[in-house]
Amino acid sequence: MRERDPRIVLGLHRSRYERRILTSALDLGINAIDTSFNYHGFSAHAALWAVGRDLLPHFKLSTKVGFFPTPGQAEHSLDPVRLRGAMERTNCDLGRAPDLVFLHNPEQSLTGAGSSSAAQDKLGMACAALAAAAAEGLCGGWGISSWDPRPLPSLIDSTMPMPDVVMVRAGLTAGIDVLEASESLAAGWSLGTAQLWGMSPFGGRATDPLWGKVDPRVFIKGTAEDLSPVQAAFSTAFQLPRVGRVAVGTDNPSHLRELSAALRYEANADTLLTYRRLLRERTARQPA
Ligand SMILES: NC(=O)c1ccc[n+]([C@@H]2O[C@H](COP(=O)([O-])OP(=O)(O)OC[C@H]3O[C@@H](n4cnc5c(N)ncnc54)[C@H](OP(=O)(O)O)[C@@H]3O)[C@@H](O)[C@H]2O)c1
Repeated sequence: MRERDPRIVLGLHRSRYERRILTSALDLGINAIDTSFNYHGFSAHAALWAVGRDLLPHFKLSTKVGFFPTPGQAEHSLDPVRLRGAMERTNCDLGRAPDLVFLHNPEQSLTGAGSSSAAQDKLGMACAALAAAAAEGLCGGWGISSWDPRPLPSLIDSTMPMPDVVMVRAGLTAGIDVLEASESLAAGWSLGTAQLWGMSPFGGRATDPLWGKVDPRVFIKGTAEDLSPVQAAFSTAFQLPRVGRVAVGTDNPSHLRELSAALRYEANADTLLTYRRLLRERTARQPA
């Protein structure tokens, strides 16, 4: 078993919940997994317990609440009672308290909130529900995981509980507006790099034709000849925005090994500054 490396979080969004990827992760020194109340058809926690109950104590486990099954389509909600119910159920299904619980895409529940002060109240109450649950031991800590954080920075203030971690999109598929909103959210709460996590470094699809057109190795410091474009894209995600960890999904142990090997490389901050400037200029040229 390799020495632990906290920089990779094995994301289980698209996972088949097989035992071998969990054992491979531990062998590689990856001991963080990220799942959600709604993953795997709302059965992710029970599935994890079923395939790896003996492995779970070796993992730092984060999960998310805020997306609920309904008789029709599943729905997002920030209702504190529902959030609390989901956390209690999570503890039951996992047979333990998760180390971290994220509020899942809160922006989805704020669009119809009316005024910005109504949205602020709604978000504040949801954060308070998670903070209270953490204080009672239903989870080790709490955070916010947001696919589109753009509406959030203007809603936070000093009266709102401060999350332990914020997780945002990272890497070359995240647009400049999302990157800047993520950074401003982290700055608003004075979060350090270790408290900002990235997610979805390939935008969910490492086979996207994009990776055949753009060679992310241009962003890597020094020579990166033995690095694949996928590895370079992964390595770059740690600097776009600057995050302490990246949640990446794979069911394939050799893919996970490749990702782990990519951590020896670092993206070139100056090249990324140029890249961000170009993105900003392109956005400015687009019609409103
Ligand atoms: N709003 C939210 O809270 C939210 C939203 C999205 C994601 N997330 C978190 O972020 C995690 C990752 O996101 P994601 O799964 O959507 O996207 P992702 O990590 O960008 O992409 C996952 C895909 O990349 C492939 N892949 C990974 N490593 C590879 C390699 N070395 N070579 C080739 N292909 C590779 C995987 O296929 P193989 O299985 O074939 O390797 C998988 O299909 C999620 O599991 C979740 O924890 C959170």
